[in-house]
Amino acid sequence: MKILVIGASGRVGTDLVKQLLADNHKVIGTTRQTEQLFNDDNYAQIDLDITAEKNAIQQQIDSDIDAVYFVAGSGGKNVLEVDLHGAVKTIQAVEDKGIQRYIMLSTVFSLDTSKWDNPAIDDLKEYYICKHYADQWLVNNSSLDYTIVQAGALKEREATGKITINDSSAGENAIEDVATTLAAVLGASNTTKKVFSLKNGETAINEAVASL
Ligand SMILES: NC(=O)c1ccc[n+]([C@@H]2O[C@H](COP(=O)([O-])OP(=O)(O)OC[C@H]3O[C@@H](n4cnc5c(N)ncnc54)[C@H](OP(=O)(O)O)[C@@H]3O)[C@@H](O)[C@H]2O)c1
Repeated sequence: MKILVIGASGRVGTDLVKQLLADNHKVIGTTRQTEQLFNDDNYAQIDLDITAEKNAIQQQIDSDIDAVYFVAGSGGKNVLEVDLHGAVKTIQAVEDKGIQRYIMLSTVFSLDTSKWDNPAIDDLKEYYICKHYADQWLVNNSSLDYTIVQAGALKEREATGKITINDSSAGENAIEDVATTLAAVLGASNTTKKVFSLKNGETAINEAVASL
């Protein structure tokens, strides 16, 4: 498949691109950096800024892309422009291009405001609000074949290969396990039009994804 990864330079994006290339996909990664991120014949790179106008974003997206990942994020500094408006513009641009498959990396409980009464989330309220409405847009205002993958806290530690999905409490995730889950979603048609949360747990990633 030919896959666009928006946010290829990020911590999750880097692991995700590595896994997609290992699975023999052609990957177009986005970054605002000039340096080529991966040296692989199946990898190409575009300089994409999602704070640009929607039409400018759209012009940079090839029509023959089979699936799009959104793993970009503001890191808390420009949440409205990046995590909300930027994300929604990519959803609109992808849809207008006639691309159907869109896989969004989001955050645990993004769509469940009843779970936001938590000091950990309180500090991230504006980010949560942005992810909430971006995810709502994808579900309710687009006709895309979406999957929303809601990760708990991302941790730079060794992968376990095991996750728990849709638990009632939030938990931590090894970054590589989030990337592996995102990669597994691509080939799992049962994940279309689904939203699920994950944290490191007890079930092999492929098995957990297949159970959705
Ligand atoms: N941190 C957590 O604990 C946590 C938990 C759950 C979910 N998440 C979600 O996971 C996402 C990815 O996390 P991460 O740690 O991999 O992020 P990261 O390392 O901070 O990477 C952010 C990515 O977003 C891109 N980006 C930022 N601003 C952009 C812009 N204006 N236009 C285009 N691209 C832009 C960056 O690309 P450039 O190379 O262009 O800078 C980079 O590829 C987060 O943004 C968040 O939404 C995070």
